[in-house]
This record gives sequence, C-alpha cells and structure tokens, in this order.
Amino acid sequence: MTVAPPLAPPPRLLMGPGPITADPRVLRAMSAQLVGQYDPWMTATMTETMGLYRQVFRTDNEQTFLVDGTSRAGIEAALVSLLEPGDRVLVPVFGRFGHLLVEIAERCRAEVHTVEVPWGEVVPAELVEEAVVRVRPKLVAVVQGDTSTTMCQPLAEIGEVCRRHDTLLYVDATASLGGNPFETDAWGIDVATAGLQKCLGGPSGSAPITISDAAAALIASRKRVEAGIREAGDDDAEAGRTTATIASNYLDLAQVMDYWGPRRLNHHTEATTMLYGARECARLLVEEGLDAAVERHRLHGEAMLAGVRGLGLSVFGDVAHKMHNVVAVEIPDGIDGDAARGAMLTDFGIEIGTSFGPLHGRVWRIGTMGWNARTDAVLTTLACLEQVLRAGGASVVPGAGVAAAREVYAG
Ligand SMILES: Cc1ncc(COP(=O)(O)O)c(C=O)c1O
Repeated sequence: MTVAPPLAPPPRLLMGPGPITADPRVLRAMSAQLVGQYDPWMTATMTETMGLYRQVFRTDNEQTFLVDGTSRAGIEAALVSLLEPGDRVLVPVFGRFGHLLVEIAERCRAEVHTVEVPWGEVVPAELVEEAVVRVRPKLVAVVQGDTSTTMCQPLAEIGEVCRRHDTLLYVDATASLGGNPFETDAWGIDVATAGLQKCLGGPSGSAPITISDAAAALIASRKRVEAGIREAGDDDAEAGRTTATIASNYLDLAQVMDYWGPRRLNHHTEATTMLYGARECARLLVEEGLDAAVERHRLHGEAMLAGVRGLGLSVFGDVAHKMHNVVAVEIPDGIDGDAARGAMLTDFGIEIGTSFGPLHGRVWRIGTMGWNARTDAVLTTLACLEQVLRAGGASVVPGAGVAAAREVYAG
C-alpha cells in the first residue's frame, strides 16, 4: 500500500474574487494548540473575539460572534432564525448572491418578493421603498457587494427606508466587509454576516455575524433549548410561546446566542482553529484601522482598474458602484478566457476568476483584497496578464498595464 505524501500545495497568488491567499499571520494563529471549549482562557478568547468583531462591523451590538461554517452558513443562520414560514421578505437582486438570498428565504418557507435590476447595476433606494410600501415585508435582505458582478450596493438609504417603514434589514457583507465602508449601527442594519476569505484575509470556514437588540429579541422569542440541557426556565419560556420554532438546529441563532453569551449553553463543539483564525483576521484589521484598511483596498483596487484599462481591457458594469476589492473585465474578442486563466495559473501561479450565469466566460474577475491588496501583487498580476494576452494574439502596448497602475501609486 502506498501512503499519500505529506500535503504540499503549490505556491499560488490567488487574485480572483476570493478566496485569496491567506495572510501568513492568520495561518500562524491557526497553528496554535487547542484549548478546551469551556476553559476560562477559551471563553475569554471568545468574548475578546466578539469585541473585535464589534469594531469590524462598527456596532455596539452585544450579539456579535461567529457562526461556524462558511459565509453561507452565516446567511442561512440569519434567515432561518429571522423568518417564520409565511413571513414576507423583500430581496433586492442585482447578481448571483441576491438569488442565493431568495433561494434560502424560500427554503425557510417565507413569502419572497424581489426587485431586480440588470447585472452590472445596483438597486436604487426608491425602487426598494416602493416595493417595501407595496409588500410590507418583515425583512429586507440584501447583499452589499455582489461578487458575481462586483457591484457594491449603497445601504445607508435602504437603512433609512427600513427604519421609516419599521422593517428589519439583513445584509450579506461577505465580499465587501473590511475593504469597503460598512456601518452596521449608523446605517440601521439589524443583522449582517460575513466570511473570512475576502477582505479579512483568512480562509473560509467562519462566518462573523452581528445582530441588533431588536432582531436578537425576535430570534430569542423563537427559542427552543434541546432536550438534555434544558432547565425549568426554558420550559416556562416555551410554554407561552406563539412563534414558530427555528427550523434548523445547527443554525439556530437563539441557541448559538446562549452558547456565546454568559449562559455558555452547550451547543456545537467550537471550531477552535477557525476561531483563532477569525480572531486574528479581526485583530489585524483593528490594528491597521478600519478606515486605513478600506483606503488600502481603494488604492490597490484603483491601481488594478487603471492597469487593466492600460492593457486595453473594458471594465464590466457601473464602475462608480464597483467594490474596491474586485474588478470584472470583459474578455477580449479572439481570446479564449478559460485558456488564458489556465495560462495565468500554470505559467505564473496566479489565479484569476471568471463569473457565473450570464457572465460566465464573458468576464474575468480580478481581486485585490485582504493580504493581496498590495502593490507587488497588483503589478505582478498585470505584468503576467499582459504576457498571456499577447500570447493569445491581443495587441497590447508593452508595459502599459503596469505603467498605468504605477501612475496611480505615484498619486
Ligand atoms: C457575496 C457573497 N455571499 C455569499 C458567498 C458564499 O460564501 P461561502 O462560499 O463562504 O459560503 C459568497 C462567496 O463568494 C459571496 O461572495
């Protein structure tokens, strides 16, 4: 019997829409030894992590913690815990991840309404308000940065619409948090979720979440503590309840809040290594300063934008609303998009992405986020992309991509 060799991933520069190359400091934190789940050091570290993510989400929300799982687990936990069967939810859709919110809300057996705009645009707040007035939803669920189109939905006005009409607001900030302005409290966001693998510079597998007091009260009103760990008070609370039990056990935020809160009620076994990673992602952002991190993403995103334009490529979508951290470029006529991505990977060790649905094979998505929002990563990617374009027969002015990016850096 042959034994597989030790793991040896090839060196790669992940310049797609995420995951990106993880920050080595995060990987180092993740190599630390395990500590028992209820060890005082561990519970203190969990509490400390909650505090760090309050700063990342810019919120005072007590209920700010990690859902164990990828970003999608955070989204699903939020929606399944907020939505009861038959509840009305409004989803502004401007890309693939809006459709994901629809899909998950439908599985929660909610009554789902949408307002949709073409890919490459964002949804005007007036359209959302008009739909809120018509539908009277319990919840508006929206993506901030839809990675499929690279668009960044303005949220402040949607927050005002939700406040005016007494509607809860949920935001999926997976792709945008840390690299674009995000203000949970100032924008009136009730629940927001994210992931580590984009601007936070970590691997996927942990979903930070923040929940307003109002949303937390609503979720707690649906609580059912599982048999075996119930106490008398839990029976009393459930006896008078009129709300529907949350349909998921693992993603039941009522129980997860009790697990992260002072009660430390047993739920799942903490994904300790992911907790270490998530804590380091937040710590690094807080150490850098959120504004500085957003500015770093803006700068390197602008350099990449100028660089791809310097290579003669057209940019997809409404650039005024592009996320800082990713750009979608039209694949030029005569170039085989998948072959070019293959050449980037095999010849240069650089990964760039394509997109989904109507944009599959039509655009490449190039990210500048997390640890890879760096000058050398931007310039190397542009230099290599130039070679691949020329090899494919595109006419490119030699050095034009790198030169355009350097002009941005020169200010
Ligand atoms: C905006 C957005 N939402 C949700 C997801 C799903 O995240 P995950 O794959 O970590 O579950 C992604 C992944 O790219 C995303 O970009």
